[in-house]
Amino acid sequence: MAQYRVAVIGGDGIGPEVCDEAIKVVRAAGVDLVTTDYELGAAHYVKTGEVLPTGLVDELRTFDAVLLGAIGPAIGSTEVPSGILERGLLLPLRFQLVLYINMRPFNGVPGAIAPECDFIVIRENTEGPYVGEGGQLRRGTPYEVATQGSVNTRHGVERCVRFSFELARSRPRKHLTLVHKTNVLTFSGDLWQRTFEEVAQEYSDVETAYNHVDAACIYFATDANRYDVVVTDNLFGDILTDLAGAIAGGIGFAASANLNPEKTGPSLFEPVHGAAHDIAGKEMANPLAAIRSAAMMLDHLGESEIAKKITDAVLTFGSEMAASGTSMTTSAIGDAVAERL
Ligand code: IPM
Ligand code: MN
Repeated sequence: MAQYRVAVIGGDGIGPEVCDEAIKVVRAAGVDLVTTDYELGAAHYVKTGEVLPTGLVDELRTFDAVLLGAIGPAIGSTEVPSGILERGLLLPLRFQLVLYINMRPFNGVPGAIAPECDFIVIRENTEGPYVGEGGQLRRGTPYEVATQGSVNTRHGVERCVRFSFELARSRPRKHLTLVHKTNVLTFSGDLWQRTFEEVAQEYSDVETAYNHVDAACIYFATDANRYDVVVTDNLFGDILTDLAGAIAGGIGFAASANLNPEKTGPSLFEPVHGAAHDIAGKEMANPLAAIRSAAMMLDHLGESEIAKKITDAVLTFGSEMAASGTSMTTSAIGDAVAERL
């Protein structure tokens, strides 16, 4: 097997400790992983004033993949203004590394709202309201104006929709749902819907559906089993995947891959849960989302057999853990998953 060079951005709060467990499991699976740590995030910003060091993105390009733990200050902390790390670090990584797919798989665990669910949300990851189009006028006056545009390009939408059809085709159910708000967002909604319908012509083996995003929220909570693959825009995808995490058993299980499908550079893999400063360093964090994210990394690198082994171990162990209701330490969970390989 090849050796893989991975840049690790552990980040803040529980980020570094869940990354440690992910790396432990990947190595236990027999993968030759060489890691390089990068100190970035809220703590690094407070200490140095640095958000995205010059040359960092180009340095990251030399790696096979990036593993990220969590970036963000503690809730209530005022040292890092809102948006500094999001707009200054996380989004530039997504945009500059062309990570246009954000893939988030959800598998229910016993006791969850949707214990049997098995679906993947594909979120467009480089456009929509996230591009930062807009501005403010007369700030702080009674005549203040704020606009925040949503940028949707045919190229950006089509590559995301196409990826989703390919993914749906590869799964047993071969079902793809577009989620948008075409009844109100008629400009971008029309572009998404037309693109979706046109690309669908090339995938007659894939069954399709459309839900408005508000209705999708109801179905996520009441009938999530109807979904197989869901494709949606950047902001709807952000919100829907937190809801999906909650109904599938908790955000502690939610993994994600930020993909550059053409592999013109490294892709980035991260648990969805965030920094959770309140439980950091206490061996209380659930590392399963980080471990599953690392399995997605191996799959993307072409090690699909090992990736499947780790994912299966995470899913069965996660289900057992949820069913038994016992709490285990962060490193004990990592050890238990590693043992099952
Ligand atoms: C996520 C996060 C990010 C997003 C933030 C931290 C920029 O919420 O990955 O879902 O909105 O995409
Ligand atoms: Mn989010």
